[in-house]
Amino acid sequence: MLAVAVVAAVALLAVGALVVGRDGGDGDDRAARSGEGSRDRTAGAPAPAPDGGEPGDGATGVGDPYFPDLGNGGYDVVHYDLDLTWRPDAARMDGVATITATASEPLRTLALDLVGNDVESVSVDGQAAGVARAGERDLIVTPAAPVPGGATFTVVVTYGGSPQTVGDGAPVAPGWVADGDEVHTAFEPHGAATLFPANDHPSDKASYVLRVTVPDGLDVAANGLLTERVAGDGVTTWVYDAPDPMATYLVQVVIADLELVEGMGPGGVPIRHAFDTDVAADAEEAVAQTGEMVDFLADLFGPYPFVAYGAVVVDEPLGFALETQTLSIFGPDTVADESIVVHELAHQWFGNAVSPATWQDVWLNEGFAVYAELLWAEHRDGGGPEELTELVDPEGELDLPPGDPGPDSLFAPSVYDRGALTLHVLRDAIGDDAFFTLARTWVERHGGGSASTADFEDLAEEVSGQELTPLFDAWLRAPALPPLDDWLG
Ligand code: ARG
Ligand code: ZN
Repeated sequence: MLAVAVVAAVALLAVGALVVGRDGGDGDDRAARSGEGSRDRTAGAPAPAPDGGEPGDGATGVGDPYFPDLGNGGYDVVHYDLDLTWRPDAARMDGVATITATASEPLRTLALDLVGNDVESVSVDGQAAGVARAGERDLIVTPAAPVPGGATFTVVVTYGGSPQTVGDGAPVAPGWVADGDEVHTAFEPHGAATLFPANDHPSDKASYVLRVTVPDGLDVAANGLLTERVAGDGVTTWVYDAPDPMATYLVQVVIADLELVEGMGPGGVPIRHAFDTDVAADAEEAVAQTGEMVDFLADLFGPYPFVAYGAVVVDEPLGFALETQTLSIFGPDTVADESIVVHELAHQWFGNAVSPATWQDVWLNEGFAVYAELLWAEHRDGGGPEELTELVDPEGELDLPPGDPGPDSLFAPSVYDRGALTLHVLRDAIGDDAFFTLARTWVERHGGGSASTADFEDLAEEVSGQELTPLFDAWLRAPALPPLDDWLG
């Protein structure tokens, strides 16, 4: 008997957007869903030239099925060095982004995603480059000389802008937000380009150094480890080193009056939190079990994948939390919910270590994070196996295929709850040993990179030796929620 109360899942994270009626498609082209496709140039673009070919124009999208404009082709970012200066009096962030990338084809021009912002100058390998805007979010850079295929090159963009978001996504429009002097970010899925020029797609991950200069009296929390604080004239530069490959949407920069708390978790994982001083006491209590949670999830899913973990808690109710890498962000409202606290931690394995190859694969993030909530609740409640009851879905909210929710429903309840149910049914079908071997192998094999639903299905079949297409078809791709009883042995 599986000891997880799946019925609870429906109530959890009810913050997701209401599902708009969609047909869901039968979506039967496995190849089209493969992560390999995400590296292709956008449809209609010429095929990449080999190293010696004629230099071409790097594509202005990676071919995400939901967001064709996101990311860019022709190169792979290795490292972002972001030097940001916050000027609260002008409500402006000035930036110098130094982007190190490797060309996958000879490039006459290349695109970077940047939304809004004023661009002052761009250079490539130290030489002034041409720059032009294209569409809503592309900066087309023309280096003085073409970049040869295979070459590692450095782009420096000097720019600046005001807080902004893109679109009107629920529960939060992606972007960066200022509340008076204070700043935080919530970029998922495509808001990173509001703060810095980027290859803004989770198929291109990179390491980061974040240097954030703020007036004295304000503090900074960001991804990775604080390595330096450099005092200037009435300002201080906070330097954070985030060496683990990170998707753009997981970048976090919080500027506020913060209390930084440092500790050490089990297995030597540094645990450091940052709490807005106004909410510090409650926040600290809310995340007191972080070390135990890390330990619990590491036992199930393999070693914690990054240099550190912790929570940053801002002083305004956010209505959501976000698993920004090594430093999940919460409001006082969401940090108070233990299930959300463990949910964001679980994303460090599922979503962050292994990122979605395209946004259509988002159920791999949310399904695993909700499933981890249930596993934690079971662990905390002392393990009396609860009856697995029929899922109540009176609103038909789960009649949306989590494997193809559509770009407007990335965070719909079905992506979360039916995603978790898919994993539960899979566990029932292949058994506990194969299921947890699958979860650990998934992180081991794809950690540091990005992987697709097709990759997951292949690995599930490899690990279990079973033919699982009917299960994934029913749970991920058929519009109607399958009857749970039919699928549990
Ligand atoms: N991945 C977030 C979570 O923990 C999603 C919530 C934020 N919503 C958003 N549109 N980015 O569930
Ligand atoms: Zn989540």
